[in-house]
Amino acid sequence: MNVLMDSVLRDARTVTPSLILDFNIIQQTYDRFLAAMPGSTIFYAVKANANPQVLQLVVDRRGGLEIASLAELERSLDAGATGEQIICSNPIKNPLFLERMHREGVYAMTVDSTYEVEKVAQYAPGSRVYVRLAVDNTGSVLPLAGKFGVDGDEALALFDLARELGLQPIGLSFHVGSQCLSVNNWVNAIRACGEVWRAAAERGHRLHFLDIGGGFPAGHYHTPSIPTVETIGAAVMQAVEDYIPRGELDILALEPGRGLVGESGRLLVSVVGKAKRVGDEWLYLDAGVFNGLMETYEGFPPVVQLLNTEADSRPRVKYTLAGPSCDSCDVIARGVELPEIHIGDRLVFLDAGAYTNEYAAAFNGFPIPRWVALNVGEPSRETAAGD
Ligand SMILES: Cc1ncc(COP(=O)(O)O)c(C=O)c1O
Repeated sequence: MNVLMDSVLRDARTVTPSLILDFNIIQQTYDRFLAAMPGSTIFYAVKANANPQVLQLVVDRRGGLEIASLAELERSLDAGATGEQIICSNPIKNPLFLERMHREGVYAMTVDSTYEVEKVAQYAPGSRVYVRLAVDNTGSVLPLAGKFGVDGDEALALFDLARELGLQPIGLSFHVGSQCLSVNNWVNAIRACGEVWRAAAERGHRLHFLDIGGGFPAGHYHTPSIPTVETIGAAVMQAVEDYIPRGELDILALEPGRGLVGESGRLLVSVVGKAKRVGDEWLYLDAGVFNGLMETYEGFPPVVQLLNTEADSRPRVKYTLAGPSCDSCDVIARGVELPEIHIGDRLVFLDAGAYTNEYAAAFNGFPIPRWVALNVGEPSRETAAGD
């Protein structure tokens, strides 16, 4: 942990819950992505963390943004992005959003059904479109399979329909699932894209865009079995070389969300209550599944530590961690082993830069964690959530 982050976490004046983001880490991670996949373009998945300073960092580096909604489009434009720097990989878009993307000259958008192709042709005529392939999500901690994506034959039919309706089919996308731990998922998905790519060429489509989505995991620094961006990048570059027709790929798009911002964040919380229930030891925190830790509800195992290292000598106890709200589903994790915890102790959730505040609501009146931004090119500053 770096010294500035450490001092903010240990400063008793830092209110809880707080989400502390270190922009140096985002910047370093951004550079690592580009070094691992030379020539690629990052379209940061805004949904992971739409903090304006995060979007600014990407736009300042001439990166791109991947958006899903009108509000994300507006935030991206506010951060200074031009339409050319923006893509939309949400397969379902409403007419207002389509019209606005069209007006702003958004570079391209995904389609994965005939209905969507027709809708795009109607509300964003002439747009560049790419088709989302359904790919294997086994091996990812949060699989996204099922809701979106088509097989190769359907992809070809969508390219044909898009062309017929005056759209410009430019390529393919996929998502291997979030926090994907299986490097082969990317390799197999790129192989599948290569097959569709060649078949599309036989039907007269000149593709030039391959979007390998997100899924890049966070946390190698504490769990070495988690693949690094360098490991994934090497496999991706080899797969592109092996399976995508040489000389045809102009844009290799990456859509990291968690992989870019996850490790930059620490969520600092306080223990506000304790109870023994039917033999289980419960800890109640001032952030829970509604105000910052929603992903744990989806089965994402949190990495959590007690801040006070002098307490390491306390006996180890297995806890059920719960949030502060009255809702019984507000349970963060069970069987979490920690030194014995006292009310008032502070805990830190690691890798909290993605899908924390973005998911949060002030349900029951419990606040969304405050943002604390470190190393943004000016002295660290604290802002209220939503600022
Ligand atoms: C289309 C799309 N792209 C990118 C992402 C970012 O994924 P991750 O945070 O796993 O990198 C998501 C996440 O749901 C997504 O739906």
